[in-house]
Amino acid sequence: MKILVINGPNLNLLGKREPDIYGSRTLEDISESLIKLAAELDVNVVIKQSNHEGEILDLIQNSAEYAALVINPAAYTHTSVAIRDAIAAVGIPTVEIHLSNIYKREEFRHKSLISPVAHGHISGFGSESYLLGLRAAVSIANAEKNTS
Ligand code: DQA
Repeated sequence: MKILVINGPNLNLLGKREPDIYGSRTLEDISESLIKLAAELDVNVVIKQSNHEGEILDLIQNSAEYAALVINPAAYTHTSVAIRDAIAAVGIPTVEIHLSNIYKREEFRHKSLISPVAHGHISGFGSESYLLGLRAAVSIANAEKNTS
């Protein structure tokens, strides 16, 4: 089983970007932990990052080979109708994740355009949100497999 993990804008700066909010681990550190957990769960994980909305749309549109998607849409969470529509269009089981608890932060972060098309949402556990997201994605992908 293959799981796609997409990281949105500015997540390439993790480690040095507002570490009081996002922690000190880099995207590379998080990716290593994801790959380790994927091996334990006996799945393959492919991890991408893009600062460009159109590139993220292409990744989602070309995700047919993946059983589920884990996405941290970053700032696009709050603005991107296009990412929301791409997830709805391809119908891939999706887990939305955030390092920070977006509901504890500025008002403009409280609204996610992605949540209504996601299976579920994990927010506020720092880099652990990614690992919880991967576990959730494998669980929903297995459930879909058993019903199809
Ligand atoms: C984020 C939360 C977003 O509001 C923010 O724009 C990000 C990161 C998070 O992981 O906590 O870039 O998605």
